[in-house]
Amino acid sequence: MPDKSTHGEGPRPENVFERQETIDVWDADYYHPIAERYYDDAVPAMLKEMGAKPGDLVLDAGCGPGVHSIRAARYGARVRAVDLSNQMLAEARRRAEKAGLADRIEFSQGDLTDLKLESDAFPFVFSWGVVIHIPDAEKALDNLARVTAKGGKLALQILGRSSLDWRAERLARRLTSKSHDEHPTAVGAGVWYDFNDDRLWVQRFDAKKLEAEMRKRGMRLVSRRGAEFTEFQWRAPQALRPLLLHWNRAAYNMRLPASLFCTQIFIFEKTA
Ligand SMILES: C[S@@+](CC[C@H](N)C(=O)[O-])C[C@H]1O[C@@H](n2cnc3c(N)ncnc32)[C@H](O)[C@@H]1O
Repeated sequence: MPDKSTHGEGPRPENVFERQETIDVWDADYYHPIAERYYDDAVPAMLKEMGAKPGDLVLDAGCGPGVHSIRAARYGARVRAVDLSNQMLAEARRRAEKAGLADRIEFSQGDLTDLKLESDAFPFVFSWGVVIHIPDAEKALDNLARVTAKGGKLALQILGRSSLDWRAERLARRLTSKSHDEHPTAVGAGVWYDFNDDRLWVQRFDAKKLEAEMRKRGMRLVSRRGAEFTEFQWRAPQALRPLLLHWNRAAYNMRLPASLFCTQIFIFEKTA
């Protein structure tokens, strides 16, 4: 997670997700060609584990620039994709067009805390790296559970509080007297970070609390898997970044214990 980044001149939109520079920062890192190889493993594996088959309807909730909507479409799914940010949606449409998959993905604007989609409408829903940035994550979880069809699956890629990344960061901050002001929630605790000279809410989830909260929403945990082992590449010297990204793919495929991973994928089944 970056502490800051450079930006251009001129008036600034309210929200970091409405900025082209946010996408540029992600392109240089999260969507780095080495990281792409890991996503090419992880996203289809997640859909397969959920039981999605070619032709099935999948909701990408918080699609950002659409990189995983495109992967889901390539997998053969019919994709519905929503995001709060119009800037992200414009970029997502551009990328889907370029990938030749625009006819398989329907993009629209939507707020997960106030989602207008029909209840029980989607047999498969995934939300990758999104609820971690929503201050009212519980509302978003209500809606994600609500729109998942009965017997359907919901996958959440979130940051874990048990991860080695977070333990190391907390220790380093304690030693340098720069501890974060952590705000506890029903599912973990969040921190406001500086990002592109603005504030970005980043919540890390407690696995047991998330499982209990989702149970209240009629969702049973069926699997938990490590996703990105580390996000320290943000802070590493440029030369080390590719190594960390290679390590992430290797750690994912080795299936090391999920609790160690910076990000984790939880899959829930809607039982009620
Ligand atoms: C870190 S990005 C992840 C994007 C994409 N899922 C991926 O993994 O590449 C987080 C996304 O969540 C979206 N987002 C934040 N709050 C949201 C909300 N309340 N409803 C819908 N989308 C939201 C942002 O606009 C942004 O595109």
